Amino acid sequence: MSIELLRAHYGFSKMPFSKDIAPGSLHQSAGHQEAVARIGFLIAESAAGVLTGEVGAGKTVALRAALFGLDASRHSVIYLANHTVGVRGLHGAIVTALGGVPRFHAAALVPQAEELLAAESTERGKRVVVVLDEAHLCSPEQLEAVRLLMNAELDSVAPFSLVLCGQPALRRRIRLGAFAALDQRIALRFHLQGMTATETGTYVSHHLGLAGRSDRLFSDDAIALVHQVSRGLPRAVNNLAIQSLVAAYATKKAIVDESSARMAVAEITAE
Ligand SMILES: Nc1ncnc2c1ncn2[C@@H]1O[C@H](COP(=O)(O)OP(=O)(O)OP(=O)(O)O)[C@@H](O)[C@H]1O
Ligand SMILES: [Mg+2]
Repeated sequence: MSIELLRAHYGFSKMPFSKDIAPGSLHQSAGHQEAVARIGFLIAESAAGVLTGEVGAGKTVALRAALFGLDASRHSVIYLANHTVGVRGLHGAIVTALGGVPRFHAAALVPQAEELLAAESTERGKRVVVVLDEAHLCSPEQLEAVRLLMNAELDSVAPFSLVLCGQPALRRRIRLGAFAALDQRIALRFHLQGMTATETGTYVSHHLGLAGRSDRLFSDDAIALVHQVSRGLPRAVNNLAIQSLVAAYATKKAIVDESSARMAVAEITAE
């Protein structure tokens, strides 16, 4: 099944349910809005927080939306999602993000990262935002390194706000005794839930609308099934919705009915 045929059949201006949605065109489900607001609060307060959610819940999208809303002249954002680089790589990435060239020896690299972080506010008047996405993949040493950087300033003001974002295991992990010092610094915890059934419906319509079809393309029972199987998790909704469109096209239906959605579920759960 070619994407082009599907696009032409439904008269989409572009394929719906894409990953690259402009920040201004996101679907405003309650969980998404709340996540964005809380990340904004953390940044405004220079605090640390944890954002969790299941795979495909929309965490990275919410992060990007919150970061997009920041005034770039007053914020330096350090977004780190690759944690295979060790503690050294973490320090190096922070230095690089702040325009430095990482020093070779760890003994010199750590103070370099601390100095550059401090200089953002003292010399440039900028708030630094450190975001660790996929933070459930961080090693204990990396989490500890981040905490030490947060404590580097002796005065009470944290040198950056910290957003730890990841799968639900992250929350449990930080609660473990080994991370008590980090845990105590967490001012806010937010779990991004799947969308409600009503939101799944408006979410699907929203994506279809972005692709140029604002009329009704999915029947109510098709939406109900997509919601039930996806549990309202946006990425799972995307996949089911696309497969449903394929199934409806293959059986020459003008709209996606429940039987098309059932075929999609069978297709996806068979994978
Ligand atoms: N508010 C939204 N509006 C429109 N689409 C969204 C929204 N939130 C999520 N999506 C869709 O869901 C997909 C998955 O979201 P995202 O990548 O943020 O999930 P995640 O929670 O970071 O997943 P992972 O645990 O795999 O990193 C996005 O690519 C996008 O298509
Ligand atoms: Mg993500």
